Amino acid sequence: MTTFLIDLSPGDMKRRLGDALGIYVDAMRYPRGTEDQRASMWLEHIRRRGWTAVAAVEVPDHAVDDPDAPPLAAAPMLGVAYGYCGAPDQWWQQQVVQGLERGGADRAEIAELTNDYFELTEVHIHPRAQGRGLGEALVRRLLAGRTEPQVLLSTPEVDEEANRAWRLYRRLGFTDVIRGYHFAGDPRPFAILGRDLPL
Ligand SMILES: CC(C)(COP(=O)(O)OP(=O)(O)OC[C@H]1O[C@@H](n2cnc3c(N)ncnc32)[C@H](O)[C@@H]1OP(=O)(O)O)[C@@H](O)C(=O)NCCC(=O)NCCS
Repeated sequence: MTTFLIDLSPGDMKRRLGDALGIYVDAMRYPRGTEDQRASMWLEHIRRRGWTAVAAVEVPDHAVDDPDAPPLAAAPMLGVAYGYCGAPDQWWQQQVVQGLERGGADRAEIAELTNDYFELTEVHIHPRAQGRGLGEALVRRLLAGRTEPQVLLSTPEVDEEANRAWRLYRRLGFTDVIRGYHFAGDPRPFAILGRDLPL
């Protein structure tokens, strides 16, 4: 099998939504059925300004140079990542602003962090394809050429930052924006991380 990284157009994402959500649920080890709750949200995100998505797909070696092979956008998916420009009417930004306020940040600091950023919303690699650099490759592709001065993301807190997501973000130079934050309606603590762009 040969692995390719591809850009997903809005149409590709709509067509492949079931596969992308399947990877998300398997990667996060969420119960089956979670994808049904998430589908409308992922579709709504496609309409947000600056929405960009990438995927890792795999193709049998014999099909790589076959002109009659199906397009890469239809090939089996190993991973998916997407994001969009942050904006004040987005729930996530409102939560982050609240967290910054609670942490004592002043207006100018909050504005500097939230006025112009790319939100790295999702990055997931199927468990069978994790640990070979695909997550990093997807994040690099997604962030390449972004015009925003920074990127922000949230990730669940984990003891000692000991999981692949944390290792990836630290390796890519993400630093703490807020730690131990509780998003409304979620009992788990999250970290908000960020870094300047370009990567
Ligand atoms: C987090 C996640 C996206 C990272 O993707 P990944 O492809 O597994 O990991 P990376 O791209 O960081 O790969 C690096 C790992 O591959 C290994 N690797 C092997 N070959 C490699 C190569 N050619 N280049 C880079 N890394 C390579 C590295 O040693 C490293 O191992 P380590 O994580 O044990 O230190 C993925 O593990 C995942 O989907 N996890 C579950 C869902 C999740 O947590 N999503 C993020 C929520 S915020």
